[in-house]
Amino acid sequence: DTPLLLDRYGRVARDLRVSITTACSLRCTYCMPAEGLPLVPRDELMTPAEIGRLVGIGVRDLGVRDIRFTGGEPLMRRDLEQIIAAARAAADDGLAAAGATDRVRIAMTSNALGLDKRVDALVAAGLDRVNVSLDTVDRQAFATLTRRDRLDDVLTGIRAALAAGLAPVKINAVLLPETLAGAADLLAWAVEHGCALRFIEEMPLDADGRWTRDDVVSAADLLDALGRRFTLTPAGREDPSAPAEEWLVDGGPATVGVIASVTRSFCGACDRTRLTAEGTVRSCLFGNEETDLKALLRSGADDAAVADAWRAAMWAKPRAHGSDALELSDDAFADTVRSMGAIGG
Ligand code: GTP
Ligand code: 5AD
Ligand code: SF4
Repeated sequence: DTPLLLDRYGRVARDLRVSITTACSLRCTYCMPAEGLPLVPRDELMTPAEIGRLVGIGVRDLGVRDIRFTGGEPLMRRDLEQIIAAARAAADDGLAAAGATDRVRIAMTSNALGLDKRVDALVAAGLDRVNVSLDTVDRQAFATLTRRDRLDDVLTGIRAALAAGLAPVKINAVLLPETLAGAADLLAWAVEHGCALRFIEEMPLDADGRWTRDDVVSAADLLDALGRRFTLTPAGREDPSAPAEEWLVDGGPATVGVIASVTRSFCGACDRTRLTAEGTVRSCLFGNEETDLKALLRSGADDAAVADAWRAAMWAKPRAHGSDALELSDDAFADTVRSMGAIGG
């Protein structure tokens, strides 16, 4: 047994994404149906203690070094502060037990609604960074895309995160015709506020199956649109496994990135492992195999048994998602049972 989360293609997962709810305060059309996703029954959600235990196993026994909480919307959990605190304690202990001296980074991806009221407590609990999902700074377009008229509250949340020292705050915008139209304005806002903006090609995780490859607004379309207002110079990737390819804006230091999940997929360098809100491991965003670690915890399994099950799940990680894997058609790519809001992106 290696002490790492290895797969058959030689990749090592060190980045753990933990979805903690399927609930959300917005209803982005590319993520959720208007009525929201079915809520996970309360006792099927992982508790802070269970999350802490899995984080501890991940860090101590399996080489995990980055943790990101996602949703749904993580702020929908009233016990998010306890979750972060449990993860921080377990990660620090796990790191010491593994004899490592680096720091486990704890981040979350959030829509920032209500973040202003909780950010100080979250930082005190051990949160290091936040990425905020924001597709446009046009109020009408925001209301249409998210089905909620709450742009100002999101901007307030972002300002609070910056004031609390959670820099760099990255903004994620999903590429759609509407976001393309407002892309230059969004970039201007991000530059002015010192946020790193990344655009993401839409993946077929909208839950209602309306995604088609032909409708995807591509990285190339975006660069054309931004190039009319800004001078962009290629700056590569933060590191080889980072999803975003970056450009300097007007000579820098501001950057804009593109996560070209569909047209230039980065599966070959993927270093991610995922837990769903119900406590199952998913080795990939796509591919519907899941292993139920929460059931193992609740049946009294010891840490070694949980670590073994986690390793076995990751060993079976697919080589690539449908747009990249020659053996998979677009239909298979689009045929993911869970929507984005249930996997956590
Ligand atoms: P940083 O470490 O701050 O750069 O975070 P991140 O980009 O890894 O996380 P974030 O939650 O902000 O995700 C941004 C986008 O990247 C989302 O649309 C994710 O779905 C996408 N993404 C993250 N991991 C994967 C992955 O393993 N495969 C694919 N195809 N997309 C991913
Ligand atoms: N395709 C690509 N990105 C998506 N996100 C949500 N749904 C999709 C989709 N269908 C993004 C959100 C969030 C991140 C975790 O995933 O904007 O920032
Ligand atoms: Fe909520 Fe994020 Fe999905 Fe929008 S993309 S509905 S903010 S979970």
